Amino acid sequence: MESYLISGGRKLQGEVDVAGSKNTALALLSAVVLAEGTTTLHNVPDVSDTRTKAKILQSFGAKVTWNGNSVTFDCSNLVDGEAEEEMVRSIRTSFYLLGPLAARTGHVTLPAPGGCKIGARPVDFHMKGLAALGAEIDLSNGIYTIAAPNGLTGTTIYLDFPSAGATQHLMATATLAKGTTVIQNAAMEPEVQTLASFLNRMGAKIEGAGTSMVTIQGVESLKPCEFNVPSDRLQAGTYMLAAAITGGDVTVRQIMPEHQTAVVNKLREAGADVDEGPDWIRVSADNGLRGIRIKTMPYPGFPTDMQQPMSALLTLAEGMSVVEETIYESRIGHVQELNRMGANILQESRSSIINGVSKLRGTSVVASDLRAGAALVLAGLAAEGETIVRNIHFIDRGYEKLEQTLMGLGGQIVRQTQESRVQY
Ligand code: EPU
Repeated sequence: MESYLISGGRKLQGEVDVAGSKNTALALLSAVVLAEGTTTLHNVPDVSDTRTKAKILQSFGAKVTWNGNSVTFDCSNLVDGEAEEEMVRSIRTSFYLLGPLAARTGHVTLPAPGGCKIGARPVDFHMKGLAALGAEIDLSNGIYTIAAPNGLTGTTIYLDFPSAGATQHLMATATLAKGTTVIQNAAMEPEVQTLASFLNRMGAKIEGAGTSMVTIQGVESLKPCEFNVPSDRLQAGTYMLAAAITGGDVTVRQIMPEHQTAVVNKLREAGADVDEGPDWIRVSADNGLRGIRIKTMPYPGFPTDMQQPMSALLTLAEGMSVVEETIYESRIGHVQELNRMGANILQESRSSIINGVSKLRGTSVVASDLRAGAALVLAGLAAEGETIVRNIHFIDRGYEKLEQTLMGLGGQIVRQTQESRVQY
């Protein structure tokens, strides 16, 4: 197991070009199977989640070739294959292949999914939606079998919650259904809009993606295409927070500032200086920060994925902050570890009550999931002394070249293997 050794206390300064979006890439990797032929995606982040998803695609006959951040997917000859359970369980979006594969090949089996341990993460919206589209569903011994021998049929699907994954999964699946599908109470996340643009480029007829009602006119078939994955709004947000927590001055580039509204507004409310241009945001914070209230919401509200990193920042803000997590019931793995570093966080149900402290102290901490890991890295960058963050395979799921990027900004962070590790 690898870990990070961070020497804290340096103000991060400089510019960062943000890598491609993990969550967008994962959604596109489900959709590539809809078209016969070779699809090429550029700017795919080379992180363990995209690598795993690509391997799962290979189990179904896709030929995948990585060339840096450009990846080709030859889906000419798909098979009714079997994916390794361990691989499928390790990422949530393995599941979003069910509908597209069933729509394309008529039959698919897949073990039930996994993902970061941040709550129960049920899949009922996905299953109800697939059933409404006419899929025959069986779950036996933890294996889903989805059959659509006569194809799928368009219908109206109401989501009980605007789930990003269910919207993406059902939207992609419905592109090959006969007739019209309407998804009501759809998620409005940028990742949904990008997936719709990708599918439309393949010949799908989707309208309304990015609003709460998405309409999909089914087509006979889709054709392969080339597509560029946009930058990752969550990696960008993390670097913005890294600037603020270290009292530094960082510009994140090649991003869409309109996707950062919630984080930008909350940073300003906490007292950071934020400037924006057409494709960049500059964050600096040399006068200290003050406590604020945050409540996570579906997009365009404050993103749950930034909740843990933002909580790390608020441990050092003067006064009290309250951070309420409304999307996941247990996205709190960072709390205990930040407290070990000297933070003062009281967890009450889904709310973290954070009383700002004047400094954090480095120690050995353990990442419990991807964004908890990011939160601990931010805390380590700001802390006095050395911090060791263990279990960084969680961080490798979603941050491309994290340590190189932070070192480029003047941070001191080194990846350690088991052998090279400093003991505490
Ligand atoms: N939900 C259900 N039933 C379902 C589906 C979802 O009850 O069938 C619930 C979930 O349990 C959760 C809420 O709905 O309480 C929202 O879940 P959603 O489906 O929107 O999340 P997701 O698609 O599983 C994606 C991202 C997450 C991100 C969420 C919310 C990917 C691969 N994952 O997950 O990203 O937190 O949307 O924006 O796109 C991360 O990157 O760290 C991460 C966890």
